[in-house]
Amino acid sequence: MTDSLLIHRPDDWHLHLRDGAMLRAVLPETARHFGRAIIMPNLVPPVVTSADAGAYRDRILAALPEGAEFDPLMTLYLTEGTDPADVAAAHASGLVKAVKLYPAGATTNSDSGVRDIDKVRPVLEVMAEIGLPLCTHGEVTDPEIDIFDREAVFIDRVMDPLRRAVPELRVVMEHITTSDAVEYVSSASAGLAATITTHHLVINRNHLLVGGIRPHYYCLPVAKRETHRLALRRAATSGDPRFFLGTDSAPHPDHAKETGCGCAGCFTATNTMSILAHVFEEDGALERLEGFTSLNGPNFYRLPVNPGTLHLEKQAEPMSYPAKIACDDGDVTVFDPGFPLHWRVI
Ligand code: DOR
Ligand code: ZN
Repeated sequence: MTDSLLIHRPDDWHLHLRDGAMLRAVLPETARHFGRAIIMPNLVPPVVTSADAGAYRDRILAALPEGAEFDPLMTLYLTEGTDPADVAAAHASGLVKAVKLYPAGATTNSDSGVRDIDKVRPVLEVMAEIGLPLCTHGEVTDPEIDIFDREAVFIDRVMDPLRRAVPELRVVMEHITTSDAVEYVSSASAGLAATITTHHLVINRNHLLVGGIRPHYYCLPVAKRETHRLALRRAATSGDPRFFLGTDSAPHPDHAKETGCGCAGCFTATNTMSILAHVFEEDGALERLEGFTSLNGPNFYRLPVNPGTLHLEKQAEPMSYPAKIACDDGDVTVFDPGFPLHWRVI
């Protein structure tokens, strides 16, 4: 039985760090295990211009614990007013590694997002030309569409037409939650990839709703039925290089989640690597964990693999980790996978 695993230092290809006190509270949780992360731009106000991204990167670096080695990979929040020349300059300088598409109203702080995709076509064409990937929050916002169908409908109504219109554009479908998305990515030609979160490999919609509503399992896209979770597990553990880890670790203070209208987001930065080792071992794919967390992402983003390593060890006793991360804005509850964790990062 394998009880020790040495892998290249992983990266998180989709992460929310926020700002101020929350940034200071959660950044060490990611920097402890991960070499780099794609930093989501949905601050208030959002990170729209290269100047915004540069200033935010400086604030992240200033908040890093002494001695930490962590490289924040910055993104720009796409708006209908985004200037293609600014995007090109941000890419050319090496500052920005992706642009994020939020359909307006789809999720937390997405009000400045895109209402009419045709309005951002000039930006997308420039991105295709320079090879800058587009990261997508793949849910339609049409109130007629059931929330559990919003990802599948997005593929038909937005993603597929977009990829046909700008075929050279490199696209990451983020935090996919359905077998529809797995099939769409699996059958695509080059230039399309998907991130999968830790929590969507573990929970389905029953975990969210059966026996009482569990606000810390509420995120967007919302967890779907069990068949979809199993499709995500097969994709993540398959070794297919188009699937890689993007935790979507999204901290909210408990008071903003445990309330009448709670925010979306699961906070998984603290225990993600232990949960993933458990999941991959359970599926007989421990040797493919490194591809998912450390190799496939850099390959898609055309970046070198991290030089460092991460060592995981399986121990008889379940490991302990904090239930909450303290923050001046209010404590943040760490995702509870619902099973004991025996794999520990050492
Ligand atoms: O659950 C989510 N939380 N999904 C998102 O798309 C945004 C994120 C957040 O920023 O809290
Ligand atoms: Zn996110």
